[in-house]
Amino acid sequence: MASIQTDEPVPKHQTISPAIFYWGTPVVLITTENPDLTFNIAPMSSAWWLGNRCMLGLGAISQTTINLLRTKQCVLNLASDSMAGVVNALARTTGSAEILTAQPDEGYKYFKRMNGYVYVHDKFGHAKLTPLESDLVRPARIMECPAQMEAELVGVYEMMQDADTKGFIALEVKVLRTHVHEDIRMEGRENRIDPNKWRPMIMSFQELYGLKGGKVEESKLAGIGEEEYRAFSNAAEVEVVN
Ligand SMILES: Cc1cc2nc3c(=O)[nH]c(=O)nc-3n(C[C@H](O)[C@H](O)[C@H](O)COP(=O)(O)O)c2cc1C
Repeated sequence: MASIQTDEPVPKHQTISPAIFYWGTPVVLITTENPDLTFNIAPMSSAWWLGNRCMLGLGAISQTTINLLRTKQCVLNLASDSMAGVVNALARTTGSAEILTAQPDEGYKYFKRMNGYVYVHDKFGHAKLTPLESDLVRPARIMECPAQMEAELVGVYEMMQDADTKGFIALEVKVLRTHVHEDIRMEGRENRIDPNKWRPMIMSFQELYGLKGGKVEESKLAGIGEEEYRAFSNAAEVEVVN
């Protein structure tokens, strides 16, 4: 194929084969209800939003996935960049006791066993987090997280159907109610977060980052008022100005 002509200096390129493609997404601490009515927490970051829907990429054998498929409810608690201690306390834990005895033919379960995952039933106690009752779903919210979204499961898609590697699922959840700490709200606006105040924890290639550098430039997209997106989201409980 003919290459496109450009006067710009072309950066040196190489083809590589990354084992993981985690380019940087927020860390969600997802809470679900266990069969014994206690609550599980899992850190995850294969998460993105469109309207009031969030797509979650999760291993099928995670206790979180098992709980979410059974109860159809969860809370998406967003970690701020000051919560590395919490994320690390929850990292490499699972609420599924079965990984303790996983055998080599048991895929991701065995991967977890071989990579030092431990079974923790009480994740709230383990990570010293405080449960708060939710309004519309049974799983508890995490008080320490600046944003907590109560959500229900509306869709399930089995990923990697074309491959031998099975066991990963994309779950669509619908946000029903959002709770936020007062200090990340935009002053004078009922339904807005101030991005200058909100500092999400971002996972990039398994490492934890913040957005401490601040905004890089004024965003053209942000010229669209946030309320223009209301049709794709939930009705405002309080009347709003853009
Ligand atoms: C920062 C971070 C991000 C993670 N992202 C994901 C993810 O997006 N999807 C996933 O399946 N596991 C992810 N994990 C691993 C899960 O936390 C792990 O599978 C855990 O055992 C799930 O807990 P559970 O079995 O109690 O549900 C992540 C772990 C950490 C620490």
